[in-house]
Amino acid sequence: NRVVVLQGGISSEREVSLLSGRGVADALRAKGLDVDVWDPATDSVGMLEEGGYDAAFIALHGKLGEDGSIQGLLNCLGLPYTGPGVVASAIAIDKEMTKAIWSDAGIPVPAGARLSARSSDAELLSAIDAFGKTGLVVKPGHDGSSIGVTKILPEALSLESLREAVRNAAACDAGEVLAEEYIQGREFTVAVLDGEALPVIEIIAPEGSYDFQNKYYTDSVRYECPAKLSEAESAALRAACEKAFRTLGCRGWSRIDAMRRPEGGFALLEINTSPGMTPHSLVPMAARSVGLDYGELCLKVLGLAQT
Ligand code: DAL
Ligand code: MG
Repeated sequence: NRVVVLQGGISSEREVSLLSGRGVADALRAKGLDVDVWDPATDSVGMLEEGGYDAAFIALHGKLGEDGSIQGLLNCLGLPYTGPGVVASAIAIDKEMTKAIWSDAGIPVPAGARLSARSSDAELLSAIDAFGKTGLVVKPGHDGSSIGVTKILPEALSLESLREAVRNAAACDAGEVLAEEYIQGREFTVAVLDGEALPVIEIIAPEGSYDFQNKYYTDSVRYECPAKLSEAESAALRAACEKAFRTLGCRGWSRIDAMRRPEGGFALLEINTSPGMTPHSLVPMAARSVGLDYGELCLKVLGLAQT
C-alpha cells in the first residue's frame, strides 16, 4: 500500500500544511504504510505519475491545494485522493458562493456581501448600514486559518476602518473580500466524516480571538468536546452541518465552522474541505471523542479516497 501525502504548497497556509502533512505521514508510517511526501512547491508532477501510488492524502490547505486544482490534477492522473472532489472543493473555497448555496437550501448563514479594494464608498457604507449593527467581520474570500481577517466592533466601525480592513483582506487574496455581520456569540466547529457529523466542539478563545497565532501556536484557547449545548441544539447543529456537507456534494471528510447567535440559533460560516491535521487541529479532537485516535482517523480518511 503506497501512499503519497501532499503537503506544503504555495498558499498562505503553507506552514500549517507542513504541520498537517508531517502528522499524517508519521501516523500512516506508524500504521505500516509505505509513505512518500510530495510538495507542489518543489516536486514535479512526474513523481506523482511514476510513483506507483495507490492513493494520495491531501494535507494541503488553501489555494491550489483545497480549491479543486490539485483534485483536478489527481483526476487526470487517475490517482484516488482524500476529501471532496473538484466541484465541491472549488465551491467550498469561495466563502460567498458557499453561503449562497447553503442559504438557498435553507441552511442559516451570516448576512454579508462581497467587497473588494475597488469598492466605492457607497458600497462600503451600504454594507455598514445593511448588516453592521453588531460590527463587521472582514475576511479574504478564499483564505483559511484566519489570515487577513479583521473584526470591527460597532464602536470602531466607520468608512475608514472598513476601508482599511478590506485593504488588508484584499492583500491576502486575489482581491475577493467578504464582509459579514459580526456575530458575537459562542464559536463551534463540526467535523463531518463520511457524511456523518462527529460531536460538536466549542472553541473558547481569549476575548473571542481565535486568530492564526491562537489557532496553532499558543495554548490559550480552550476546547470543549462534546460542546456544552442542549441535546436539541447539538442535534440541530450536527444535522445542519451534515446537510451543508451534502448540499455542496462533499465526500470523505470536511470541517464546518459555525457561530451561535446570542439570542439562539446557529449560522454556518464556512466549510474546510482539507481540514487541518496539526497537533492543535480539531478534527482529531472530535474523532478522539468517539474513540478514533489520530492514526485511525488518518486510515479512515484514506480509506474514503476516490477519484
Ligand atoms: N484551514 C485550516 C487548515 C483548517 O480549517 O483546519
Ligand atoms: Mg477555513
